[in-house]
Amino acid sequence: MVEIKNLVVVGAGQMGTGIGQVALMAGFNITMVDIKDEYVDKSYANIDEGMKKLEAKGKFSEGKTAAGYMANCKKSIDMASAVKDADIIIEAVIEDMNIKKQVFKTCDENAPAHCIIASNTSTMSISEMATATNRPDKVIGMHFFNPVPLMRCIEVIYGDKSSDENIDAAIGFAGKLPCLRGDRYIAKVLKDRPGFIVNRITAPVQIYQNYIFDKAEAEGKTWEQLDNDSGGPMPTCVLADYVGIDTIYHGLKYYEKTLSPDFAPGKIIARMFNEGKLGAKTGQGFYDWSKGRPKPDKKAGKARLFKLKYPIAIMLNEGCRVLEEGIATSWKVCDDALMAGMNMPGPMAPNVNNSAKQVEVLNELVELTGKKYFEPCELLKSAKWVDMK
Ligand code: CAA
Repeated sequence: MVEIKNLVVVGAGQMGTGIGQVALMAGFNITMVDIKDEYVDKSYANIDEGMKKLEAKGKFSEGKTAAGYMANCKKSIDMASAVKDADIIIEAVIEDMNIKKQVFKTCDENAPAHCIIASNTSTMSISEMATATNRPDKVIGMHFFNPVPLMRCIEVIYGDKSSDENIDAAIGFAGKLPCLRGDRYIAKVLKDRPGFIVNRITAPVQIYQNYIFDKAEAEGKTWEQLDNDSGGPMPTCVLADYVGIDTIYHGLKYYEKTLSPDFAPGKIIARMFNEGKLGAKTGQGFYDWSKGRPKPDKKAGKARLFKLKYPIAIMLNEGCRVLEEGIATSWKVCDDALMAGMNMPGPMAPNVNNSAKQVEVLNELVELTGKKYFEPCELLKSAKWVDMK
């Protein structure tokens, strides 16, 4: 099995930076790669800032310092030479299959033969990326959640040709990456299907959100009022801005192509994407982020449009599809991954005695929205999923 010492992260945005930081904290040598000096400089500065914060809080073991860790952090805008000593590469560039394949091709041509090449894609086919290489057994998915240092889940994903040995090496590596909020949870994803486990289960909630965003605008409600309907660690519009409207838009386009036309981006998301209002990263999305993360004011009142019973039924149905398609074999893995990836209770355990009721809710939602994707799947209707612990 490959011994991992050197990690190269290609794509020094928010996700890549988080991945680089936790790998550095675990004692790996890292190189952050991007296409412009300003991007890698910013990423390096953010990692440095995070490490200094941890040092100031006394989080490092005896003799370790932020400067000591940073000595193992390199930056580069020359991907071909940066990967020449890599044991593992994690690609975290934008969600564009052509760009990802180009990255995989360059990495494959220049990295040592033993090197694993992983993608941090949120949705896209690992197997398709592998076709750009001559090492499909060493191409896998490693999907992290934002912010990487604080979210416990990492999905390790089989492409059609990934070998067990390389998946096991990646799981071993992932397990060493610290999380500031508890133990890492590694979810093994058995099939390369759009969205894997966590994003797949939450993906169709976005069809419902598209419906709600449009309705809120038509009825003159504010995003703050809409966010006051939901709550949670980050309410709907804050989380959308935080994840990035571009990431959501590209994800929806991909699901539209691979799962159902019902996923087509709604009017609001498409408009924000086209206007470049991408959320936290551009300073403006649903909210203005210039003064930091927005906190919806409770005094603004509620829109009274978002009904929690629908996302719960939608996620249960999608969890059953995840099991039907063999992406995971246990509903407990689905629930645990959701909690570790999004700090959100999974939809399955609370519904073990409740399939019939949720089938009714889904049928009601099909009536309300006209979206056939919400129709209950066979496994949910049969209630046989409850035995798949
Ligand atoms: N380095 C060092 N310290 C860091 C750090 C870093 N990189 N990042 C954060 N910290 C520290 C902060 O300084 C803070 O320290 P203090 O408590 O001393 O002030 C501490 O960690 C906690 O940080 P926050 O104050 O930001 O944390 P919070 O309590 O507000 O919780 C959260 C933040 C955990 C992210 C919470 O809001 C949450 O659970 N949100 C949901 C996020 C989510 O759903 N993510 C998944 C999105 S989907 C995705 O990512 C998948 C995809 O494919 C797109």
